[in-house]
Amino acid sequence: SPATTGAAAPKIPAAFHGEAVTWVHHWTDRLFSFRCTRNEGFRFVAGQFAMIGLMVEGKPLVRAYSMVSAPWEEELEFLSIKVQRGPLTSRLQHVKPGDTVLIGRKPTGTLLTENLLPGRTLWMFSTGTGIAPFMSLIREPEVYDRFERVVLAHTVRQVDELAYRNLISHELHEHEFLGELVAGRLLYYPSVTREAFQTQGRITALVESGRIFDDLGLPPLSPESDRVMLCGSEAMNADVSAMLEARGFAEGSNHEPGSYVVEKAFVTK
Ligand code: A2P
Repeated sequence: SPATTGAAAPKIPAAFHGEAVTWVHHWTDRLFSFRCTRNEGFRFVAGQFAMIGLMVEGKPLVRAYSMVSAPWEEELEFLSIKVQRGPLTSRLQHVKPGDTVLIGRKPTGTLLTENLLPGRTLWMFSTGTGIAPFMSLIREPEVYDRFERVVLAHTVRQVDELAYRNLISHELHEHEFLGELVAGRLLYYPSVTREAFQTQGRITALVESGRIFDDLGLPPLSPESDRVMLCGSEAMNADVSAMLEARGFAEGSNHEPGSYVVEKAFVTK
């Protein structure tokens, strides 16, 4: 079914920009990405999210989505799950180039480098679609001004859910200006929990056992030199936060910077 129905295009409510879809990529039967045009008035900081969706029966149906694209990119990109009975994603998964999507005018969020105290290594721990805000951050040059090293850890159930794997491990390193910034400084650490893979297990187990530090050749997490950003399911965020707090980390917010920050990987329907 088309993303927008009816002969006359519905009027876009004032809180949103109506943007045209330009590209769609289906990773699996449960996961896809899409790009759309970007209003020149739409400004955001890497790590933020906005309300994204469709006009359904004359009304906006939206959910929070983190921007995957970097702030300097011309278009916007998003990563979404597909839930066959999900009110939004059952429809959004069918968008095609030329369709109109709603982009909320007010991006927000806590996964910002300015919410972290200065540090040497920035760790990004994500599960599932929680990798989205980190895709924007790893392509934000300012991140490499603030940190000597950036580690992006992504855990999923199955290998084919490792969205952006090729972009992170290859394309970024060949990019005309980011290539130089990320060389030797951006480390990618994918892991899979329900299939055979080079690195198996939850991020919590990989940190507790110390395997991630051995694999990367880095010292264990310490609140003196390390900063952490978390984005995953509620359970993952809670477990990793508890692990960090036990190691002396303190949560930062838009009011006060800390040694780690958290955001939910939002869309589940
Ligand atoms: P697992 O397969 O062991 O549940 P989901 O698709 O359910 O959001 O999960 C995405 C990934 O996050 C899976 O690899 C899953 O591992 C992992 N995960 C789920 N809950 C937690 C948690 N509490 N702590 C760490 N990782 C988790």
